[in-house]
Amino acid sequence: MFTVKVPATSANLGPGFDTLGLALELFLQVDVELSNYSSEIYWQGEGKDTIGDQIDNNLLITAMKKVFREAGLDIPLPSLIIRNEIPIGKGLGSSAAAITAGMFAANRILAGRFSQKTLLKWAVEMEGHADNIVPAFYGGLTISMIHEDEVFFQKINFPKGIQLVIAVPDFEMPTEKSRQLLPQNIALQDMVANLQRACFLLASLANGDVRDINRAMDDLIFQPVRQKNIPGFKQVLENAMQAGALGVAISGSGPSLIAFAREKDNVGQVMQKAFLQNGIESRIFQLNACEQGVKLV
Ligand code: HSE
Repeated sequence: MFTVKVPATSANLGPGFDTLGLALELFLQVDVELSNYSSEIYWQGEGKDTIGDQIDNNLLITAMKKVFREAGLDIPLPSLIIRNEIPIGKGLGSSAAAITAGMFAANRILAGRFSQKTLLKWAVEMEGHADNIVPAFYGGLTISMIHEDEVFFQKINFPKGIQLVIAVPDFEMPTEKSRQLLPQNIALQDMVANLQRACFLLASLANGDVRDINRAMDDLIFQPVRQKNIPGFKQVLENAMQAGALGVAISGSGPSLIAFAREKDNVGQVMQKAFLQNGIESRIFQLNACEQGVKLV
């Protein structure tokens, strides 16, 4: 038996749309039982009631099958025990984690036939964007670049002492739907302002100088559209900032919000309160950045 463990991820971080991603200490774990090729699949944790009984449509299984197919082999699925801590459809990289876990599990069964670079390319194709997949593979804070269909990335260490406080509201926002809302044309001055903010944010995090990241995380292009579908967005953000958050953004395509905060600050509780005042129940996750990506144990 072996286990694949993949971190949750938060993409965009405000202006870094489809580019920046951060791995979080919240995991999808899959135990793969090789001795018994009976295809029994048990799903525990997040998604148990929704995905647990539609296993055939599951991304993890689709990703495994893709790798077997590329190898030209018709291998039956092994038994899987899936333990999932990552909320589904909330902007925390649940699909990237499932694809990554499926590909690494299948490749391990094939004794590492394919390189990580090949798996990365397939995973990004399957997900449709690289910003969650890359930190799921490599951990840390990553910058992805697609250049002529090839995936390139850089990784920087996330500054110590910053916690990620994530408010996860109790409704889902499928990424596909959320992407359909996005503007097709962008004014030059907005594009320039966003580019400045994204570069400034990255440099601030790389230098560990986070004084002005609240300004840098204030995305001008994607969040204004998406926040309309998050009741209480403005109040949640303001509450977090008043409680001492360093910066706040929509996590991935939403609907969760991610706040960068110092440990002592009581940011989660006030974010939850603001959601509640807008009729939305939410859960708060207080997490550290995860410097390591997918792990085979
Ligand atoms: N960059 C993607 C988006 C992330 O915002 O649509 C999805 O998690």
